[in-house]
Amino acid sequence: MKKKLLSVLLSVAMVSALLAGCGAKTETAAPAADAEAAAPAAEANGKTVGVAMPTQSSERWINDGADMKEQLEALGYAVDLQYAEDDVQAQVSQIENLIAKNVSCLVIAAVDSSALVNVEAQAKEAGIPIIAYDRLLMDTDAVSYYATFDNKGVGTAIAKYVEENMKLATAEADGKSYTVELFMGSPDDNNAVFLYNGVMEVLQPYFDNGVLVCESGQIDFESNNTLRWSQETAQQRCENILTANYADKKLDIAITAYDGLAYGVRSALEGAGYVVGEDWPLITGQDAETMACKNILSGHQTMSICKDTSLLASKCVTMVQAVLEGTEPEINDTEQYNNNVITVPSYLCTPVPVDADNLKEVIVDGGIHSAADIGL
Ligand code: BGC
Repeated sequence: MKKKLLSVLLSVAMVSALLAGCGAKTETAAPAADAEAAAPAAEANGKTVGVAMPTQSSERWINDGADMKEQLEALGYAVDLQYAEDDVQAQVSQIENLIAKNVSCLVIAAVDSSALVNVEAQAKEAGIPIIAYDRLLMDTDAVSYYATFDNKGVGTAIAKYVEENMKLATAEADGKSYTVELFMGSPDDNNAVFLYNGVMEVLQPYFDNGVLVCESGQIDFESNNTLRWSQETAQQRCENILTANYADKKLDIAITAYDGLAYGVRSALEGAGYVVGEDWPLITGQDAETMACKNILSGHQTMSICKDTSLLASKCVTMVQAVLEGTEPEINDTEQYNNNVITVPSYLCTPVPVDADNLKEVIVDGGIHSAADIGL
């Protein structure tokens, strides 16, 4: 962890500075994030929070887990942090174990958002409240709150970046058109659908007027999603698309929904002989991982979306405190996130697009990664 996590908790001023760095200026610091509450020597309050994370194969979830653990421990909670390595059944077992250990509260970032209905019912039965972390828990009434980023906003931010940088608004008049392929997220993750909808809200008119041409025809989410957000699956699919549809033309834009997918697309493009600075396409991503930032600097990726996981953790912590201590959590959305059973009160953090132009300001000055780590 390169982020100075504890410093985020140490003062409201620091939180504000961080928010300013990530462009989320309207958000306020968590009520609990004052110097006293965050003192590292906080007395144990006898309560354990079970935190179930999806995988350590991606940098962001490692940061999320570490941020949650650090912030909860600073408030006196013990933390039982589990990673399921994208194995649905493993996550079910981990949550069953946490229930058996009688944790006070569960925070869950699901591998498969619909696969936890039975364990969630068990938790409810045992009187253990559940907070959904980043990914909405579907088909259950056992979830109290949801802390996430504006997932549709991630999609519109990615698409608006493409729209502006490829000058799509004037392309029709200029007689220009561009080839594009989409590499979307996992169909068992509600976030992936929101992101896709955000992308299409901005780009659909350009598909309609012929400014954007998807040679594979795989425009609908059913054909361009990537199970478990797998880099290998994205690479394979991109290789197949390049072979089948781009033998005699170039791909201009690859809209990927996550940095890992962008790495897969990069490998496929390199295999097909694309060269940065010559015919390399615009490539999008999400999470602003260290590797993605390096790729942005070397020109192998064009942009990503910065999601400040310590900010998300601080919002989630207010929800844990709400269910365990009867305080008021920070909520800014009570409409968008219906899980097929209930609409879950949510806090949506603001995602921030990053590219070579603002990388230093958002990523380094914002305390996300150090300059040395991303090679600046
Ligand atoms: C998260 C993204 C992440 C993706 C893959 C989504 O649920 O919202 O930030 O890139 O999972 O891990």
